[in-house]
Amino acid sequence: MKKNPSRNVHFSKGPSEILDAINTSIDIDQRLYKEDITGSIAHARMLGKQKIINKKEQSAIVSGLKAIERDIEKNKVVFSKKLEDIHMNIESLLFKKIGKVAGKLHTARSRNDQVVTDLKLWVKKESKILDSELKKFQRTLINIATKNTETIMPGYTHLQIAQPITLAHHVLAYVEMIGRDRTRLEDCLYRLNENPLGAAALAGTSFPIDRKYTSKELGFREPTKNAMDTVSDRDFVIEFLFVLSLIAVHLSKIAEEIVLWSNQQFDFINLPDDLSTGSSIMPQKKNPDGAELVRGKTSIIISNLSTMLNIIKGLPLSYSKDLQDDKQITFNSYDNVYLCIKVINEILSKSTFNKTRMKELIDNSNATATDLANWLVQKLRYSFRDAYIVTGKIVSYCSKQNRNIDSLSLDELKKFDKNITADAKKVLSATNSVKSKLSFGGTAPEITKKMIKLVIKKYL
Ligand code: ARG
Repeated sequence: MKKNPSRNVHFSKGPSEILDAINTSIDIDQRLYKEDITGSIAHARMLGKQKIINKKEQSAIVSGLKAIERDIEKNKVVFSKKLEDIHMNIESLLFKKIGKVAGKLHTARSRNDQVVTDLKLWVKKESKILDSELKKFQRTLINIATKNTETIMPGYTHLQIAQPITLAHHVLAYVEMIGRDRTRLEDCLYRLNENPLGAAALAGTSFPIDRKYTSKELGFREPTKNAMDTVSDRDFVIEFLFVLSLIAVHLSKIAEEIVLWSNQQFDFINLPDDLSTGSSIMPQKKNPDGAELVRGKTSIIISNLSTMLNIIKGLPLSYSKDLQDDKQITFNSYDNVYLCIKVINEILSKSTFNKTRMKELIDNSNATATDLANWLVQKLRYSFRDAYIVTGKIVSYCSKQNRNIDSLSLDELKKFDKNITADAKKVLSATNSVKSKLSFGGTAPEITKKMIKLVIKKYL
């Protein structure tokens, strides 16, 4: 049986099986092996530089750690549950590699500062990957926008057809959301970027360590300022989980639109066969499972954020073992978000849009009624409320006649207001309606083309 170096010699008995069962975290935190080794190498170099260990000891430890990393990468290592976590496992592997001198590595540090350092390094590394996935997704959305600056579709509020918009305008909304997600991630990384190593257990250390040196070695901006806060601080985990949650929420909104748009009653989008499933009993069905699962996984991701807040809220300073569960929550949210981005990205890049259907729907929905009201205000100087009353009457006439406002003749329009001229007829077409929305951020093709240039410059 492997001996756990953290298990105190002064205990009369080793831990019970049941304590081991709840205490072990190696199945989860082995994912931090690289960060743990990187942190230990920086620590050993600092100990050497500060003459806390000698140069020979330093180089034995550093090369031992590098060899362990290679062994792990070649799948030569079997981690032991008895050794609790990744830190104890690597320390024990180091003993096997270089002998007794391995015992010097844990001078002037504790697993408490070690584990936060590892997790921060991991979040930094994975955030880069996450950001590049988000960027790829923005590229997909921008590609759809570029091809569809003139594609007219219904724009909704309350899920009721509101006004004509373009598909480009619609997907550019998501480019903005993902853009904010990316800057949110950057903000979170800025606050996270302080080095925990050297806080030791909670009080700092009596050894003459150099925390600025390890900060530089590990790529942190500066050392953390209070050892107690350092070992108990998981704000960065919570912020990261929040960033992930909001990304998931945005993806879930898109997922919901994919579900709606692929439904026969909307029929806006044709899902790729390889990203849909059939029904085992209803041969006509094509189910948007991928999008539905993204919508579902979002609940898990949101719950993880709430779980982490709950873990923290009752903890006295400083470290408590409750904190150990931060990793499985973080990994779970990260893995789920990563997968969700990939799924939505693939669905959208492979789907085709049913432009005829979108146009047909908008052309039969009186969606340009507001444009007529605006015409009455702009050309006849009516107050908007008066214009609204005239237009309202026209819309109710259309509904009774089962016709679209665009199909009314000038004479018919004049029955509602004799001042209406032929010029008003122009604003009733969806195409002209869209073209007229020239305000900054509006749906006019002229504007969205400019916005596409802008977002390409900003995000890609
Ligand atoms: N595996 C532990 C964790 O993830 C490492 C820190 C252990 N510290 C301690 N004082 N037992 O939090």
